[in-house]
Amino acid sequence: MRKSLLLAVLAVAAVVPAWGQKQQSAPWWQHAVFYEIYPRSFADSNQDGLGDLKGITAKLDYLHQLGVDAIWISPCYPSPQYDFGYDVADYENIDPMYGTLADFDKLAREAHRRGIRVIMDFVLNHTSSQHPWFLQSKSSRSNPKRDWYIWRDGKGAGQPPNNWQSDFGGSAWSFDAATKQYYYHYFEAQQPDLNWRNPAVEAAMFDVTRFWHRHGVDGFRLDAVDTLFEDPALRDNPTLAGKNEFGDAEMKNLYNDKLEENHAELRKLRQVTDANGQILIGETWTDSIGELKTYYGAHDDEIQMPMDFMFTTINKISVSEFRRQIALAESAGWPVFVIGNHDMARSYTRYGDGQHNEAIAKLMAAMQLTLRGTPILYYGEEIGMETHQPERKEDVKDPLGVSGWPQQKGRDGERRPMQWSAAENAGFTRGTPWLPVDAGYKTHNAAVEDRDPQSILSFYRSLLALRHTSFALLDGDYLPLDESNAQVLAYARKSAKESIVVVLNFSAAPQSFAPDWKALGADAAKTEVLLSTVEGTSSIKDGKIQLSPFSVCIARLHK
Ligand code: NOJ
Repeated sequence: MRKSLLLAVLAVAAVVPAWGQKQQSAPWWQHAVFYEIYPRSFADSNQDGLGDLKGITAKLDYLHQLGVDAIWISPCYPSPQYDFGYDVADYENIDPMYGTLADFDKLAREAHRRGIRVIMDFVLNHTSSQHPWFLQSKSSRSNPKRDWYIWRDGKGAGQPPNNWQSDFGGSAWSFDAATKQYYYHYFEAQQPDLNWRNPAVEAAMFDVTRFWHRHGVDGFRLDAVDTLFEDPALRDNPTLAGKNEFGDAEMKNLYNDKLEENHAELRKLRQVTDANGQILIGETWTDSIGELKTYYGAHDDEIQMPMDFMFTTINKISVSEFRRQIALAESAGWPVFVIGNHDMARSYTRYGDGQHNEAIAKLMAAMQLTLRGTPILYYGEEIGMETHQPERKEDVKDPLGVSGWPQQKGRDGERRPMQWSAAENAGFTRGTPWLPVDAGYKTHNAAVEDRDPQSILSFYRSLLALRHTSFALLDGDYLPLDESNAQVLAYARKSAKESIVVVLNFSAAPQSFAPDWKALGADAAKTEVLLSTVEGTSSIKDGKIQLSPFSVCIARLHK
């Protein structure tokens, strides 16, 4: 049975995401909440079991009501769907399974009408092996497109040019028997890497951004942006002790990951997208904050929004680890906070303890949405969708799960259909869904949660409404509080016009938290609770905020 949590929402004005009515001081994307849509799984308008663009358009009111300002649509270009769209066969069209360019134009128009911007996924590291560019490149060694990809002779009979490994297991090189050379693919053989050292490739890809500008696209999420360039000498990568999940030797990708050349290229791309008012979001898998920092560019002239994936690798409810990562992200630039996407187990599943899952889902949402920075939500997070892995190899659809089974079961679990209602197939389709609907859909779905003021969905809506109307949450500084506290993560957000405290109980026990009211310049007695999931009455007794297990209290301070 779900715990009854008291939701106190005071002084939260309605969401008004019309561009003209927002504060204009910061660039729009700093005040925006982004929402990732995996189009295969979001909403199916023609009942063929696959989501589509008309389905997304039909759900724009839902997204508007949630308080979303921008949608990032995972690839919907024509594709053989080997990696479910991350293998693009034409960058300037829509796959018929998702609709037409006219459907896209309507989606963009309707989104804009509601103040929602549209971000396309830009798969710029590689194409599909079925892209006409690659088919030409492969057709002969002398084809003008040969150098659009990375072709090399092997080291000897049956020996690839070097020891680089594919991220999906095995060698990163595949042999083409017709032209007797190997081509390079950081991912699967069906995803050959483009040669970004060739100016014609660069020009063609930059043109893609202009094409989508003409179709109303407001920016791009840059897929696999770490691996655009390879060492020209193709030096072997150093191997490390142990084996990876595919049974291959562990390796440090020294010569094919995050090369310096990336940055000069990103600066050029940025000039092109800036000219059209488009923004760049980076799929930036960095190991340190120093690395993440480089992606902003020395003069803020590379990616505006490099995602901080170090945040997502904290797979436990740990105050100290989150506090530390937040402080690091704060030091890098404008932070971009993500807790889930189509490549990782859902946050509900990663952080849930099996007992307080509802409260923990709200706790994670409260943290992600009250920090200084731009949050990117993943569809279904707002209703508490879970990840369940396939149980049998024959059910796996994701190529990563097929090659990595059983150690790596792939990403199907986090890509299941959006749960719209308690109807059959969760209201996603009347056909056969391409992936099974998760068993949790009867209780966790948009329709049921819409009617429940204590649901995860209602909490997200309140949180987003608060965020959009609070000077402190939009623009305020982040000030960590009581930094040695191991149970409670607390911080203030302070702007010239408003101060807010966010107090998050990261423990299964009740906690009592006493901010240093004096240092905050506030009178405890005048504190105004704006949003709380504290069971019972959220109260401030003797200057202490009382918190039930895994609860949230967000309060405005007054002098
Ligand atoms: C990152 C994407 O998020 C992932 O889904 C995909 O498999 C790889 N890039 C290859 O494009």
